[in-house]
Amino acid sequence: MKRTWWKEAVIYQIYPRSFMDSNGDGIGDLKGITSRLDYLKYLGIDVIWLSPIYKSPNDDNGYDISDYRAIMDEFGTMEDFDELLNEAHKRGLRIVMDLVVNHTSDEHKWFMESRSSKDNACRDYYIWREGKDNSTPPNNWGSCFGGSAWEYDKTTNMYYLHLFSKKQPDLNWDNIEVRNNIFDMMTWWCEKGIDGFRMDVISMISKTKEMPDGEMTDFYGDCSPYCIHGPNIHKYLQEMNEKVLSKYDIMSVGETPGVTTELAKQYAGEDTHELNMVFHFELVDTHGKYGKWTDEKLPLTDLKKIMSHWQTELYGKAWNSLFWDNHDQPRAVSRFGDDTSGYREISAKMLATCLHMMQGTPYIYQGEELGMTNFPFQSMSDFRDIESINAYKEWCESGQVSQEAFWPCLLFRSRDNARTPMQWDDTPQAGFTCGSPWISINPNYTEINAKSETADPDSVFHYYKKLIALRKQNPVIVYGRYELLLSDSEELYVYTRTLDNEKLLVVCNFSGRETDFAIPDEFVGKACLISNAENTYDKADIILKPYEAFVLSNK
Ligand code: GLC
Ligand code: CA
Repeated sequence: MKRTWWKEAVIYQIYPRSFMDSNGDGIGDLKGITSRLDYLKYLGIDVIWLSPIYKSPNDDNGYDISDYRAIMDEFGTMEDFDELLNEAHKRGLRIVMDLVVNHTSDEHKWFMESRSSKDNACRDYYIWREGKDNSTPPNNWGSCFGGSAWEYDKTTNMYYLHLFSKKQPDLNWDNIEVRNNIFDMMTWWCEKGIDGFRMDVISMISKTKEMPDGEMTDFYGDCSPYCIHGPNIHKYLQEMNEKVLSKYDIMSVGETPGVTTELAKQYAGEDTHELNMVFHFELVDTHGKYGKWTDEKLPLTDLKKIMSHWQTELYGKAWNSLFWDNHDQPRAVSRFGDDTSGYREISAKMLATCLHMMQGTPYIYQGEELGMTNFPFQSMSDFRDIESINAYKEWCESGQVSQEAFWPCLLFRSRDNARTPMQWDDTPQAGFTCGSPWISINPNYTEINAKSETADPDSVFHYYKKLIALRKQNPVIVYGRYELLLSDSEELYVYTRTLDNEKLLVVCNFSGRETDFAIPDEFVGKACLISNAENTYDKADIILKPYEAFVLSNK
């Protein structure tokens, strides 16, 4: 297995709108990020992934880009970006940009041209089809954000495809000019000195030419067989690799809905010349009661099965990316741990142990290192996210599901849980802004914030700092082989990592109960690398505290 910097790195995701506001308009910005680089350096991370900062009308918070070579007005200027990149590099931190090229904004100049007439030079940059008639779209596909995936455009009396909101028209990757324009734009950013790309829904860029009706789901037809891992996907990524990625010392991670381990070996194989790694969604996007909407926790045995499958299948063949949450997911501790009953800190540390000791590159989503929690939404007016708002309309206002049944699902799964501002200190607005924030601050900021946690050696923050440092000191954590023990336990997640003669034992109690455990002989009395509980590991039979986690080394 080749050793590379991005395999050894720990990545921190910033959602710029909610990270740090420097000018009091209530919206996080680039200068805000620059002012907090020392905090990230202190935590010990290596790479920052910035969610989109490009010019955008913000229908989907920047995932709808109207100009790829300009900065969003609210986030600052290109000078601010250059300063951020420069200050990050000075501290040895790299910057990975979000690349959103499955679609643009409908306010991008290409789309404005494209929709203007059927013979415009940019017409074919997007996906246009005749409707069955003026009020019936070309087929029954639904968009990921609700409603039809087609929007009628009266200028030319045709429909355009949008797999996300109608303000996010899908680009036509089969058009070589589109591809070349995108590759040029990527090169332009690489020449500026950025360190990589996270590629938004990149598994969806190639669509089948024939667009038949999809199998009916809740409201619309399912487009995934025709839009995910489409016919030319690998060809286009290899072309991108050849023309751009391979020319720079950068990393690439694909957001690949629908990916399996088999496909990941192609997308992110050691020798396939596409991407360095991909995000899979088998763990976080399990199907719920109402589409993705659910309030149920995944049984631990299922969680272990999924994780272990990726750990073992990819080993030596492709590279894993590890994450519990991101800007599209609820907060890790609220979803997989326990944020309610005095167990928040210990369960946040347990989750961190479980993930950071695995094989792959770990991602930390802003605030996760503080054990930030889901938000106590009171009413629909608390939400800002287009997906949550549309889902409520589609499921509840239509009368399909009762408000009582849907509300807990919205609370548990809404993307806005992750988007409330970073909690810096216990002053009003959590030190995020001196104005009024674009989305509410979680009221628990007086207790959970960076200032108090950086001052407390027992905090979740210091625990993450220690985990990151351990990864740097122990190649077995990066490169070791993974093996699951006790696969049937609904309480314990136990696994080993092995590299040459070195072996680690990782034990995590996912339950809120004391649990018996027998330490395997080879680890009894051996060195403890990290533990979130006051316990001793020098005899075989121990009783684990609720949410206890520890790591022993055979050395
Ligand atoms: C990805 C992004 C998400 C966005 C969507 C459309 O899934 O992570 O935030 O809404 O793509 O760009
Ligand atoms: Ca601001």
